[in-house]
Amino acid sequence: MRLTLSIIKADVGSIGGHTKPSQEMMDSVKSDVEHAKEKGLLIDGFVSHTGDDIAIMMSHTRGPDDHDVHQFAWDSFITATGIAQRTGLYGAGQDLLVDAPSGNVRGAGPAVAELEFEHDLSKSNKVRPAESFTLFAADKCGPGAYNLPLFLAFADPMYCAGLMLPKLIKGFRFRIIDMDNVKGDSIIELNAPEDYYRISILLRDNERFAIESIHSRTYDEPAMALSAQRLHNIAGTYTGKDDPVALVRNQGIFPAPEEILSPFAKAHYVGGDARGSHVMPLMPVALNTAVTGMYCIPLVSCVGFSVDAAGRFSDSWIDMFDNVAWDQVRWKAQEKAQEMRSQGWSGAAMLPYTELEYSGFRNIVEDLISNFSIQDGHKPAEEAAAAVEQAG
Ligand code: 13P
Ligand code: MG
Ligand code: MG
Repeated sequence: MRLTLSIIKADVGSIGGHTKPSQEMMDSVKSDVEHAKEKGLLIDGFVSHTGDDIAIMMSHTRGPDDHDVHQFAWDSFITATGIAQRTGLYGAGQDLLVDAPSGNVRGAGPAVAELEFEHDLSKSNKVRPAESFTLFAADKCGPGAYNLPLFLAFADPMYCAGLMLPKLIKGFRFRIIDMDNVKGDSIIELNAPEDYYRISILLRDNERFAIESIHSRTYDEPAMALSAQRLHNIAGTYTGKDDPVALVRNQGIFPAPEEILSPFAKAHYVGGDARGSHVMPLMPVALNTAVTGMYCIPLVSCVGFSVDAAGRFSDSWIDMFDNVAWDQVRWKAQEKAQEMRSQGWSGAAMLPYTELEYSGFRNIVEDLISNFSIQDGHKPAEEAAAAVEQAG
């Protein structure tokens, strides 16, 4: 069968600031998912949160951009928004940027990533006899946060030695999106390994370019899909950080989970954090972690699932970052965060003006700029000419 995995996530309200959704909101979305399964819209569903974002992961056979699946997620977020409003939570309905989505929720605020592929677990299937994948969700950062780790996992054998194996050695096709182009999805396709440097030069700009999806060149199978959109390009102003989600298939013809995860050990610096305005490390955390502690350090969670022949998720899942192996990375992230924040607002510690321009910082700077003046009586060229004349 053609199976679709859809992840749709939104921040529709949270407790005590931008920390995590309430239990009542989570229960409401979970119960909606159960009803959608009973009605036959979904084969399966899984509800989680990372920081203040609720993610609904679904399996079905309706293909990407399906109106009913997207409308279901939207309606569920509307109900959760109602709970957030009634209970006085912060940022109720924050990511629902339009009154009603037209057709699908892309461009309406929620983040969407979808993968469609042939799902056939029969023994004769030599390409994909078992389906395993990971769900990534990040809070307090933009879609470019995945640029470096997922590029390294799918293009660099220093991180993924599996790339040198027969099933992977032809490499992967990267679809990269220019998120500044608001006319539509502006995409370029580049191939690793031969376009390694071209891909790098684009992906170095996390704020403008993001990996939209990756495909196996040998099997033409989709490997990963990412929610690559900028909320400020939809809303025209800063409404919250984009907090991207991604679905990444693994094993066999794709990198193994540990090969995909190893670049996250860098806790690399990304744009995000408080008011979406700082440069801070991406800290791997367990699923359903709240944003607490010093600053609001960007978080990323990653959980793994298998899928049975009928398209149902395994009844238990594996939390990739909820392990002592990642404690050392979390310490490193905290240290990197404190180092960067000790620099306050200066230079590289905060995002460049082009990013801040969507936030209130712009109004203050523009107001100040309009009050600059060329000082009277200080005209260097005229003064120099007068001095020459006086000297005779
Ligand atoms: P969220 O997008 O997670 O709501 O965070 C936005 C922000 O500005 C944090 O300070
Ligand atoms: Mg929020
Ligand atoms: Mg968030």
